[in-house]
Amino acid sequence: MSESAFLNVLNGCQPHRRPIWFMRQAGRYLPEYRAVREKAGSFLDLCYNPKLAAEVTLQPLRRFDLDAAILFSDILVVPHAMGLELRFVEGEGPVLETVGDEAAVRALKDVNESEKVKRVCETVARVREGLPDGIPLIGFCGAPWTVASYMIEGGSSDRNAARLAAIEAPEWFTVLIDRLVENSLVYLSAQIAAGVQAIQIFDSWAGELAPEERSRWVRAPLVELTARLKALHPGIPVILFAKGIGMAHGGLLRESKAAAAGIEAEFDMADALKVVPETAAVQGNLDPLALLADERICRQRAASLARAVPKNRHIFNLGHGLKPETNPARLAAVIDAVRQADGG
Ligand code: CP3
Repeated sequence: MSESAFLNVLNGCQPHRRPIWFMRQAGRYLPEYRAVREKAGSFLDLCYNPKLAAEVTLQPLRRFDLDAAILFSDILVVPHAMGLELRFVEGEGPVLETVGDEAAVRALKDVNESEKVKRVCETVARVREGLPDGIPLIGFCGAPWTVASYMIEGGSSDRNAARLAAIEAPEWFTVLIDRLVENSLVYLSAQIAAGVQAIQIFDSWAGELAPEERSRWVRAPLVELTARLKALHPGIPVILFAKGIGMAHGGLLRESKAAAAGIEAEFDMADALKVVPETAAVQGNLDPLALLADERICRQRAASLARAVPKNRHIFNLGHGLKPETNPARLAAVIDAVRQADGG
C-alpha cells in the first residue's frame, strides 16, 4: 500500500498532508446515500447487504478529497448478533430488545458464528477492493458502556436506567460489560481479518458517568479491549472516541496505549494537546453544528482548528457525527480550508 497520511499520523510518522475524515461521512446528507438506502429497504437491510453497504462506504470518497473510509455499519450490530431484536424507526432511531436481569444477560449468544458478522466482514472485503491505494479502511465497534446503555434502555433515551445500573453495579451489569468486552474483541478481530487497517471504538456516552463509574465502566473496559486487541493485532492502531471525558482523555491514552483520542467538540483542542501523551495523536473536533453555518464561518473554524494542531499529530474530523441536514458543499469547503491553511 502506498503512503497513508492517516496511518502515518497514527503510527507517529510524518504524514505528507493532514489526514481528514468525518464521523458519519456516509449517510443521509448525501443524495446518493438516500438513493441506495431506498433501494435496500431499511437501514438494517443496508447494513447487512455487503454490496450496497460497500457502495455507501465508498460514496463520500468519490465526492471528497478524504484520507480514510469508515465501514458502513452500526454499533448496535453487536447486540443484534448476540440475539437481541433490533429495528430502526424512521425519524426516531433504534429500538432494541432490552436486558435487565441475570437470566437475560446469560441468555445472550456469542457473536463468533454470527451470520450478521459474516456479512459485515464481506462488506469489509468488498470495500478494500474498491478503495484506491493509500486510503485505509477504519473498522469499529461501540464501547461496552455505550452499547450496554442501549441494551438496557432499548433505544435513544436519557440513559438514567443504564446509569443507575452502573452505580448499583448489580451482578448482571458486571457480566454484561464483560460479555461485551469479549464479543467486541471477536467482532473487531473478524473485521481486521477481513481487511480493516485501523479501529475506532465509539464510547458516545462516556462523559455522562461520574468519576467512579467512569473509571470502572469506561476506562477499565476500554483499557482491557485495547490491550487485548494490540496483543492479537500489533500492527492495527486504535482510536478511542470517549466522548465528553475532557481532561481524562490523557489518562485514558496513557493507560490504554491507544494511538489516538477522538476529541469531542465541547473540549478545547489546545487543552487536549496538553493532556494527551506526546507519542499519541488527537482526532477531531470541529462542531458538527458549525457545518450548518454559512460557508465563511465553516472555512474560518476549519482553518483555525488546523492551525492549532501540528499536522503530524492531527487527524482532522468533527467532534461528533455529521448532521443529516448538512449541505455536502460545506464539507468540500471545510476540506479545502484545511488544505489551504496547510499551504495548499
Ligand atoms: O459513516 C460512518 O460514520 C459509519 C457508519 C456509522 C453509523 N453509525 C451509521 C448510521 C457509525 C460509525 C455509527 C456509530 C453509531 N451508531 C454510534 C456511535 C457514534 C455516535 O453517533 O455517537 C451510535 C450511538 C449509534 C447508534 C445509532 N445508529 C443511533 C442512535 C441512530 C439513530 C440516530 C440517527 O442518526 O438516525 C443510528 C442510525 C444510523 N447509524 C444512521 C447511520 C447512517 C442513520 C440511519 C438512516 O439511514 O436512516
